[in-house]
Amino acid sequence: MNTKTVLITGCSSGFGLEMVNRFLEFDWTVVATLRNASSRQSIFDEQKKKYGSRLKVLNLDVTSSDDRANAVRCVLEEFDGKLDCLVNNAGYGLFGSLEDISEKQLREQMEVNFFAAALITRAFLPALRLARGRIINLSSVFGFSGFPLTSAYCASKFAVEGLTESLRIELAPYGIQVSSVEPGGHRTRFSEQVIWGESSFSESSTYLIPTRGYNSFKAKLSRGANPAKPDAVAKSVVKLAESHRMPARVVCGKDAILMSFFRHRPLGSRIAESLISLIYRKRFIGGVLSKGKLL
Ligand SMILES: NC(=O)c1ccc[n+]([C@@H]2O[C@H](COP(=O)([O-])OP(=O)(O)OC[C@H]3O[C@@H](n4cnc5c(N)ncnc54)[C@H](OP(=O)(O)O)[C@@H]3O)[C@@H](O)[C@H]2O)c1
Repeated sequence: MNTKTVLITGCSSGFGLEMVNRFLEFDWTVVATLRNASSRQSIFDEQKKKYGSRLKVLNLDVTSSDDRANAVRCVLEEFDGKLDCLVNNAGYGLFGSLEDISEKQLREQMEVNFFAAALITRAFLPALRLARGRIINLSSVFGFSGFPLTSAYCASKFAVEGLTESLRIELAPYGIQVSSVEPGGHRTRFSEQVIWGESSFSESSTYLIPTRGYNSFKAKLSRGANPAKPDAVAKSVVKLAESHRMPARVVCGKDAILMSFFRHRPLGSRIAESLISLIYRKRFIGGVLSKGKLL
């Protein structure tokens, strides 16, 4: 019987919820954390019936220092101060041109996707050290490839990648392994939760045409047979957590694998940039482009 404990952030839906199920199936004890946990306990009714005390549901808004401190206290008290695996999963996408995003929106994006993950990791390091544990950070295909009208989200995930790569080396002598998981588009609530820049759809926005194009491109993608189901990502995360030696990164989904193939080869970055530019010009901006310029 596996008696290891994992704490996962952002378990109300998507990858987080799938991971809860998958880790429980593999005999882990799971601390499933989410915002406003007291009013959303019913999300886990089935799992509680099936797995009893192996599932603990905890309130954790990743941006709240009180919630973070409480989560650490809980692990220290209930699991002899040890944590075998931390999965930094909570996150959302802020889309829109840099000019259309407010400063507050930009800061909030970094707060949730990067600062919170870094601060939670820091808070749990003593417990992870004691268990010679693992840290798995949910990055994205946008964590290694820039994309137009997605700069804030990309920057937050590039930051997660930098954190992961550096901690991987920094913490190895202390027995802690660190990896990032880089999914492409998957069918979760992510797409409907996307926040657009404050003036993305304002008639006066310079980027209104590509923004509308991107929005309908995104809607078309989420209506189609793709993107892939989220359980594949959850499976990869559990496989990582149970592997003897975690690789630096795991890429999930056909689109991310294709992009990664280009990115990590000589000349590949240029090819990837050309492909993305083509999507931007043809799909987002469409026929409006004249003589290669919008204005
Ligand atoms: N789906 C994709 O295509 C895709 C691709 C690449 C990477 N990702 C990454 O995968 C991770 C999970 O996203 P998902 O696709 O599973 O989307 P999702 O279904 O929208 O789940 C996101 C989770 O993050 C939580 N969250 C957001 N802000 C939070 C906060 N301040 N404190 C605590 N929890 C918070 C949400 O909780 P609430 O219910 O409280 O809002 C939700 O549980 C994210 O980091 C995302 O960037 C997703």
